[in-house]
Amino acid sequence: MTELDEDGPGRDEVALDPHRQATEQDVERTLRPHHLAEFIGQPRVREQLELVLRGALNRGDQPDHVLFSGPPGLGKTSLAMIIAAELGAAIRVTSGPALERPGDLAAMLSNLAEGDVLFIDEIHRIARPAEEMLYLAMEDYRVDVVVGKGPGATSIPLEIAPFTLVGATTRSGALTGPLRDRFGFTAHMEFYVPAELEQVLRRSAGILGVDLRDDGAVEIARRSRGTPRIANRLLRRVRDYAEVRSDGAVTREIARAALEVYDVDEIGLDRLDRAVLGALVHSFGGGPVGISSMAVAVGEESTTVEEVCEPFLVRAGLLARTPRGRVATAAGWAHLGLPAPENAPGGQSATLFDV
Ligand SMILES: Nc1ncnc2c1ncn2[C@@H]1O[C@H](COP(=O)(O)OP(=O)(O)OP(=O)(O)O)[C@@H](O)[C@H]1O
Ligand SMILES: [Mg+2]
Repeated sequence: MTELDEDGPGRDEVALDPHRQATEQDVERTLRPHHLAEFIGQPRVREQLELVLRGALNRGDQPDHVLFSGPPGLGKTSLAMIIAAELGAAIRVTSGPALERPGDLAAMLSNLAEGDVLFIDEIHRIARPAEEMLYLAMEDYRVDVVVGKGPGATSIPLEIAPFTLVGATTRSGALTGPLRDRFGFTAHMEFYVPAELEQVLRRSAGILGVDLRDDGAVEIARRSRGTPRIANRLLRRVRDYAEVRSDGAVTREIARAALEVYDVDEIGLDRLDRAVLGALVHSFGGGPVGISSMAVAVGEESTTVEEVCEPFLVRAGLLARTPRGRVATAAGWAHLGLPAPENAPGGQSATLFDV
């Protein structure tokens, strides 16, 4: 089984970047849940997935193709691995950007054994010709390999073993309709609530041998942006602090002091989140403004702002999406310690025209 080396889009190695950092691969593997029962949170996805898998296993069928969408670090790859484990199947891992030519995909598909799980991460980045080949493979377990060029080209049909495709994407909106329609089961991953993150932290602390106290878990969970990957990362940073500056026990005080050092604020915003909110308020008067202008203002790629900062700021109620662009909510202004203008959504004088 190979793990992908996914590099997040050009963000510094900061504690709150939900993308996996290069040095994290091994520790993530250690902390990954291996079975559905071990997977914390996402109760709906878990229940639905269990039915899909159990139904297929009982019938002796190949389960439907599965698509996971949602922000980075919420457990999409973990669930893909879990699907294979629950089915007792082998998993082959690849990613959209690696499937540039249809030949790359054909090679991958023709190497599958019956019942295998094929995991395509970042499936929205698959090149169009490979995507079209995938349609047929998903539907009929068959691909047409084109040999030669021009009028002499022939297409040779190639049987492939029945398999289950698991796709993951941080941008389900970027997926084409025909591809999306070919998944029998689509699950959208939600951010985790603090109580779930506390469970994730306790589990990880057990595996890593960290003396995590209850109040310490509460404090770290609250600042983890609803994201297990970040919770695990903050746990490791806080452990360093606890071991170097104290007796190793992770209490609330230690967690607070450590996270101060790492520039993680009370509700888990990091520098980039605060920069985005700050630009929205200071440079654009609270909006509305388009995502690309905001990205330019903070010197980041708009995909990072759109896929990483924005979902969390929206969920935290600090930013709202409107048809005219992004606006800071009253809570957004308040978080920066500023009085909100009358027309900020969520403010006292909110009107129908706010949306
Ligand atoms: N529900 C969970 N329970 C316990 N740990 C979890 C859970 N979800 C995620 N994790 C932890 O978070 C880490 C990141 O999860 P994972 O790699 O599955 O996220 P992802 O959604 O695939 O992210 P990306 O979009 O960046 O690929 C895992 O190593 C695992 O330790
Ligand atoms: Mg992943």
